[in-house]
Amino acid sequence: MRKVTLEDVFVHPITQKYLGRSGIAHAVAVAEFAYIFAGQFDVDPDKATKAALLHDVGHYTWYRDGEWDYDMYKENDIHAIKGANRAHKLLVRIGEDPQAAKEIAVAILLHTDSYLPKGSLERQPLQEVVAFADEADEQAGGKHHYKTISHEAALKRIQALDTAIEQKTAQHFG
Ligand SMILES: [Fe+2]
Repeated sequence: MRKVTLEDVFVHPITQKYLGRSGIAHAVAVAEFAYIFAGQFDVDPDKATKAALLHDVGHYTWYRDGEWDYDMYKENDIHAIKGANRAHKLLVRIGEDPQAAKEIAVAILLHTDSYLPKGSLERQPLQEVVAFADEADEQAGGKHHYKTISHEAALKRIQALDTAIEQKTAQHFG
């Protein structure tokens, strides 16, 4: 049994608050992709899905006159930095292993290079899995942030992931 499940993370009010901004449907879909890719890259699915679920908790809404301002976002956004910090604080608070909390936070920090100086970012497998999972659910114009899902449906998919992760970690990472 893991100390902290994906459901523990998902139902926490902090997660609900920030995912409410960036899109719960997107977060759940990215967690599912991360589970699949974790299998392909031989990465711990527990860390990969937690990082994927929380990867966008650092988003701020960039509005000008009631409209989303993409240029303003591009210039000023540091959601990966903020998200890594927020996720780390939350995970430690709910009892996550400190080493795992650090790895998850770093994967969130590196899930995008949009805020970094130009150059190639070399990611390790866990970080790569989270970045690929995010890209897999991306839609043009940032539409993936606006997909909707009911709380019940989202929770069911999170619980299904927890069950799958429990089985897998018992086999390979226990
Ligand atoms: Fe994302």
